[in-house]
Amino acid sequence: MTQAVFDPLVDTVKGFLHYQPHLAPIISEPENIEWRDRPHFSLPCLPEILALDDPPTPFLRNLQDKIKAVLPLAEWKQSYTKKEVGKNFLNHYGYFELIGPNGHYHCDNFAAFIGYCGPGLFYNWHVHRADEVYLIINGAPTFHSDPNRIQTPTPGLIRLHSSLEPHAITIGAVPLLTLALWGGEEIDRLPKILTRRRPWHQRINYAISGSYERKERPLKVEKG
Ligand SMILES: [Fe+2]
Repeated sequence: MTQAVFDPLVDTVKGFLHYQPHLAPIISEPENIEWRDRPHFSLPCLPEILALDDPPTPFLRNLQDKIKAVLPLAEWKQSYTKKEVGKNFLNHYGYFELIGPNGHYHCDNFAAFIGYCGPGLFYNWHVHRADEVYLIINGAPTFHSDPNRIQTPTPGLIRLHSSLEPHAITIGAVPLLTLALWGGEEIDRLPKILTRRRPWHQRINYAISGSYERKERPLKVEKG
């Protein structure tokens, strides 16, 4: 029964990938997807997702409607602690792993997450080893990474982050609903929030070196 509610959402995600062949070098198509029963877990942000306005295109409206359909069944999660991101962030943020090593559909080479961030939030600088593709379903967030890679994609556009590229997101007046796809290495590992106590360029230099796990480096990374 539960799987029957999720299947149309997975089919829509597969359809998106099918019509985005230019993403293939970054995110390979999922192989050997297998449904796993996972418990529902709720979060305070779920009513905000149900109240989202319709996105501007039929494809995005369809995708958002299918997300709303699984919302009361999904295993909603938060990657971060209150110490890392603050209580207000946690009250308006959440995600679930639709496909992936820990997803509703198990898969070892690909992960797909549905993520939500409420209006006015700042999703702090973070890194992960996986390559990442964001599809903006709703909202107009501003993405920050390299100083020359500041971008405010509108719904329907995608944003790429390569492995270990530090990035942050400023959510505007409209809440952000996104499909995040992961490929490459360590798709089973959580992102790491970078310390808030250092200037942004030090955080970037530190993480671009690819050595955020090296103990001799002076910059502390808080556990994800
Ligand atoms: Fe990311």
